[in-house]
Amino acid sequence: MSAVTDTFEHVKAVIKSVHKNATSRDKINFYNSWAEHYEQDVAVLDYRAPSLAAHCISSHFSGEREAAAVLDVACGTGLVAKQLKKLGFGNFVGIDGSKGMLELARQSGLYQDLKQVMLGEEPLPIQSDLFDVVVIVGALSVGHAPVAVVRDLCKSAKPGGYICMTTRSNQDNQEYKGRLDAELKQMEKEGLWTCVEVTEVEDWERAVREHEDGYISGAVYLYKKL
Ligand SMILES: C[S@@+](CC[C@H](N)C(=O)[O-])C[C@H]1O[C@@H](n2cnc3c(N)ncnc32)[C@H](O)[C@@H]1O
Repeated sequence: MSAVTDTFEHVKAVIKSVHKNATSRDKINFYNSWAEHYEQDVAVLDYRAPSLAAHCISSHFSGEREAAAVLDVACGTGLVAKQLKKLGFGNFVGIDGSKGMLELARQSGLYQDLKQVMLGEEPLPIQSDLFDVVVIVGALSVGHAPVAVVRDLCKSAKPGGYICMTTRSNQDNQEYKGRLDAELKQMEKEGLWTCVEVTEVEDWERAVREHEDGYISGAVYLYKKL
């Protein structure tokens, strides 16, 4: 077995145990213990969601980037802010439930402020109508943040601000994705936001489950608050 396969086999085992953790508290404990190795492991997975989301925001955002206020929800170690920084954004607030992941985000030096919050259990400690961009990557999926969180994301954005979200489209996330799609459309019907772009991406990240092969697919959503 080659060294590369060894590494991928290790990451597969790690990702499978993330999905095995039942309660959101278990999941956060898992992220606490994974934090130090998270970035190197997701690189092996060819995890492109932070870059895809950042480029989606960048292709539509026409304001003053350096000053634009960006709320990075479920920020983890800071991969999304790192990508947005390369594209000219410079003013980030991060939120995550994991103390371990937040510590790595703090060490990145990218965030003006970081807050520990359990999504779905407590409201966002954020003033309404404040952010030019709100982004959530890698946390809208089964066992992570509940779908209802998208209403809080919308509230946090300024009128005219963007909300960018990602989810996985593979089999074990189908039911969650169905509910997410329905809620996003319902909010559009209620006049809360308008859909700017939905991009389905085939090679989202490398597959890790037994019944999957190659790459799983995923989606990037961009909405504009009304
Ligand atoms: C896959 S990581 C994504 C991190 C980062 N956005 C990225 O793309 O690299 C998922 C993150 O969501 C956080 N998370 C999962 N469920 C959460 C919840 N219910 N409340 C707060 N944070 C949560 C985890 O702590 C972890 O940092």
